[in-house]
Amino acid sequence: MTPPALEVRDLHKRYGDLEVLKGVNLTARDGDVISILGTSGSGKSTLLRCINLLENPHQGQILVAGEEMKLKPGRDGALVAADNKQINRLRANIGFVFQNFNLWPHMSILDNIIEAPRRVLGHRKADAIAAAELFLEKVGIADKRHAFPAQLSGGQQQRAAIARTLAMQPRVILFDEPTSALDPEMVQEVLSVIRALADEGRTMLLVTHEMGFARNVSSQIVFLHQGQVEEIGTPEQVFDNPVSERCKQFMSSHR
Ligand SMILES: Nc1ncnc2c1ncn2[C@@H]1O[C@H](COP(=O)(O)OP(=O)(O)OP(=O)(O)O)[C@@H](O)[C@H]1O
Ligand SMILES: [Mg+2]
Repeated sequence: MTPPALEVRDLHKRYGDLEVLKGVNLTARDGDVISILGTSGSGKSTLLRCINLLENPHQGQILVAGEEMKLKPGRDGALVAADNKQINRLRANIGFVFQNFNLWPHMSILDNIIEAPRRVLGHRKADAIAAAELFLEKVGIADKRHAFPAQLSGGQQQRAAIARTLAMQPRVILFDEPTSALDPEMVQEVLSVIRALADEGRTMLLVTHEMGFARNVSSQIVFLHQGQVEEIGTPEQVFDNPVSERCKQFMSSHR
């Protein structure tokens, strides 16, 4: 059987004395769309950030397409890369879309998109541009290729950020509240792009407060509570028949 696109085993993370992740397990098979729900501070962002090593976990394993990230204890006790080359290769397979887009402000949209494929993947400029234009087309902002981020609306900037992620041809894409920073009228255009990615079979982890969308787009829902997976199941199970008391409360307060 092919290994899962992404597997997280017993992931722990703490900030000082505060244990934020207390042994999280998660498996995303190819084509899975997993939405991660939970109250503020439950550890959703920390989980995504640890998966991509934007934060260093203290314990646990992360496997990308069956290959385990080689980690070793660093000076402060958190796990750091034991083999930079391997970690960079695996990290390139994990796209990350941030709440605040994180585009480089001094670069055109096109340059934002071709930067990592050229630097990290070593693609030729002409090839990177050709690919970028296809992705811009796909997210519906081909006409903005020469604009700078500040000249775009929030929804357009987020779609550019998604195109930038796609250009790396990641195995998995992590979204951390991709529509939370947007004006209400722009939420839908970004959700439509994410929906289209789900429909083409992309593997994604999505932290969102858009409950209707999560229910609709996800193959699985994970409810995180105080750094642990409190409930996991299909959207029908978790939204309609949650087992855990806390998940029930959460669902009833988010209708
Ligand atoms: N860099 C940090 N230093 C110290 N504590 C942190 C840091 N980042 C997060 N925390 C703490 O870790 C806990 C989990 O935070 P996290 O951002 O993962 O929550 P979240 O579920 O994403 O919440 P939200 O829905 O508000 O985005 C919180 O108690 C938070 O205060
Ligand atoms: Mg968060």
